[in-house]
Amino acid sequence: MNQLDSHRPAVLEYTFSNEVFSEIRDLIYERAGIQLSDSKRSMVYNRLARRIRELQLDGFEAYMRLLRHGGGAEEQAFVNALTTNMTSFFREDYHFPILAQALKERAGQSGPVSIWCSAASTGEEPYSIAITALDALGDRHPVSVLSTDIDTNVIETAKRGVYSVDAVRRLDARMLQKHFLRGVGRNEGMVQVQASTRRLVQFAPFNLIQPQWGWREKFDIVFCRNVMIYFDRPTQLKLIERFHQFMKPDGLLFVGHSESFNDCRDKFLLQGRTVYRRVGP
Ligand SMILES: C[S@@+](CC[C@H](N)C(=O)[O-])C[C@H]1O[C@@H](n2cnc3c(N)ncnc32)[C@H](O)[C@@H]1O
Repeated sequence: MNQLDSHRPAVLEYTFSNEVFSEIRDLIYERAGIQLSDSKRSMVYNRLARRIRELQLDGFEAYMRLLRHGGGAEEQAFVNALTTNMTSFFREDYHFPILAQALKERAGQSGPVSIWCSAASTGEEPYSIAITALDALGDRHPVSVLSTDIDTNVIETAKRGVYSVDAVRRLDARMLQKHFLRGVGRNEGMVQVQASTRRLVQFAPFNLIQPQWGWREKFDIVFCRNVMIYFDRPTQLKLIERFHQFMKPDGLLFVGHSESFNDCRDKFLLQGRTVYRRVGP
């Protein structure tokens, strides 16, 4: 989230009516499933005002006209502007030993262990998964990590795998040495995930609330962390059904620290802290 989000300017540069805010709320709910409460009003203003400036429009009315009648060209930028992409390497770190153990248990299976990181933001999460996989299995068994997000800007950042030194400051020296390259000269202060680690991860845009998923494979492990908090309960429960459909028996679903599905016991049983094991047919 941009720092500006929390600061409401004393005088608004553009008129921002209740009607416009309400239309924006309906649109982002329809397109991304994201529910925006009243408390998000200044965040919405700041993020879209930036977009209005970039497009050199004269205000929200003109911007809404562009969204309604612009043939869909602005829609992706609108969604990108309103997603919150906060993430970090090894966020909710208690998940990663559980992941390492699950990978070791699957090392003998035929075919790669397939992992889907379904709201991957700028890449810290899928790369944390890839690092865990390489450290747990080395070359003993192939692992693939599919990394998706609705926001096309974050996918581009994730593909590059370039981060500030600050983003990796809490990782231990051995991990840094093995999985990251240190920038020099112009790239001083930056690191890049090693090509041998990046190679495990494929990137694609994907909207979790799109009507058809159409994956050909079933996943061994799914990460869907800190995105369902933005969705209402019916949307969350629809997603749980979908994950169940596209996961292998005994598959593991990792969710965020404040996301709970203890009432879906016919599909997923709690196995550890916010980790669920797929059950049933
Ligand atoms: C707060 S970040 C969480 C990132 C990461 N999973 C983590 O836990 O650190 C939420 C991410 O969900 C993505 N997102 C929001 N709505 C989505 C949707 N309908 N489909 C797919 N991704 C979505 C956002 O673009 C954002 O990158």
